[in-house]
Amino acid sequence: MKKDFAKVLITKEEIAAKVKEVAARITEDYKGESVLFVCILKGSVHFYSDLTREIDLPLTMDFMSISSYGAGTTSSGEVKMLKDLDKTINGKHVIIVEDIIDSGNTLSYLKRLLSSRQPASIKICTLLDKPSRRKVDLTPDYCCFTIPDEFVVGYGLDYDELYRNEKEIYVLDPAVYSE
Ligand code: IMP
Ligand code: MG
Repeated sequence: MKKDFAKVLITKEEIAAKVKEVAARITEDYKGESVLFVCILKGSVHFYSDLTREIDLPLTMDFMSISSYGAGTTSSGEVKMLKDLDKTINGKHVIIVEDIIDSGNTLSYLKRLLSSRQPASIKICTLLDKPSRRKVDLTPDYCCFTIPDEFVVGYGLDYDELYRNEKEIYVLDPAVYSE
């Protein structure tokens, strides 16, 4: 383990098993429908790729880029859209795929924005949830892991754009961001 990490929080085997389980639930819940999976770049890229490959439904993909953090470990509360979806979502069943819900600001903004475009339905699927940090009322429809209030990196999650390529999810050593 790299010296920047305090500990492994979730191993790659635990991630793979849970992603399969959640994918099976989504496949069952949407039987007979086709679904548009929206990837929120960049943090959910590995989760999105693994999840969608375990789904047994006719599905389409689209990508959106949102920024809510600066270089620090706490949300600015301000959400900025960097890239919108390529296609309209009118009449479609949409699942937003996110890496982590912290204050909930990012997803409540996104859910409001996408709901205004008249989809047939809209649900949230998140890899991680930190409910103890919530500032707005938001509950994910699908969640792989509920975690304590610690800053985590790996499997897509970054600190200052680093560590996204790590295979496991780690608690970042606070020394890295208190320097
Ligand atoms: P929210 O708007 O406060 O819910 O923040 C959500 C966004 O903050 C996520 O999409 C992440 O990019 C980032 N974030 C929140 N907590 C963490 C963490 O522990 N590690 C890495 N990024 C995080
Ligand atoms: Mg981030």
